[in-house]
Amino acid sequence: MESLTRTLPASWFCSPPLYQLERRAVFLKSWHLLGPVTRFQDRSKSLLYEIAQITLIVENNSPESAGIGIEGITVRAEDESVQIRTHFTPSGLLFATLSLDTPSFPDFFVGLENLTNTVDFTKLPHRRSISYEGRFNWKTMIDGFQECLHCQYTHPTFSKYYPPTFYSVSNHSNFSQHIADPSKPNDGLFLYFFPICTLNVYGGGMSSFRTLPSTNPGVSRMEFDYYHAGTEEEFEEYYKFVRQVALEDFELCEKAQENLERGVYGEGVLNPAKENGVAFYQQKVRKAVWEQHNKEKAAKLAEEQGNGKLEITVEGKSVTL
Ligand SMILES: [Fe+2]
Repeated sequence: MESLTRTLPASWFCSPPLYQLERRAVFLKSWHLLGPVTRFQDRSKSLLYEIAQITLIVENNSPESAGIGIEGITVRAEDESVQIRTHFTPSGLLFATLSLDTPSFPDFFVGLENLTNTVDFTKLPHRRSISYEGRFNWKTMIDGFQECLHCQYTHPTFSKYYPPTFYSVSNHSNFSQHIADPSKPNDGLFLYFFPICTLNVYGGGMSSFRTLPSTNPGVSRMEFDYYHAGTEEEFEEYYKFVRQVALEDFELCEKAQENLERGVYGEGVLNPAKENGVAFYQQKVRKAVWEQHNKEKAAKLAEEQGNGKLEITVEGKSVTL
């Protein structure tokens, strides 16, 4: 029998040192979605993004007459000693890293632009952004985003539009695509970018959220950006619908985190079909954290051994330090 993937244990959702390992292993080595170019059209102010305790500043220095485009948009870390990379997709999405310790964009997100190029993001104006804290670990929120087993009872309105019977997730390199209804392949684009960003184009609008970790593993900050090309009335209708879904998820996450912290839930197995998205991203976290842990342990050991060369085994490979 094929062995079933187990969830990460509850301790991984509650431990401050574990978060510090995740920060070095995952967050500082990933590409993060900042938004479509339409997010950066207000030239009068800089936008600040705080991701894993690193602040990025986005500015648009092009003249107003330049219109909507990538020209003049710059990203830098507030701490000048931090070096980062940025990337614009051809259809207008801006991504950034938090260090130089990341693969190139096409190596990190292999084939992603084939999907993002199907949407012209310059046509969806930014309408609203909101941000608030939640009492849950960042992975508690991503767990919920990466499956739709909970949709039928948690999101009755959403389930009316997208019956969860058909819901499926396909995993790629560092991103997942959610297909709400395979009979309508052009109805929406739902993407998850490992580790904490999402992009959801549907119902005439687009929303994007980031689940930002804090040094307290039981607290995250949710940041949502909303885009829509319609009238004020159409946008408000769309907004009401997507906020309803977001609030339902928020409540579920706070309850799930309580159970993780109180020992009600320890760990379990994941449904190989309906929770393949959860298995995908959790396995990535598990692998990255273990590799980082082994690397740091080996480096510490080498330091303790003085300056002599030391040969050790990391992930089955012999490494000379
Ligand atoms: Fe949900």
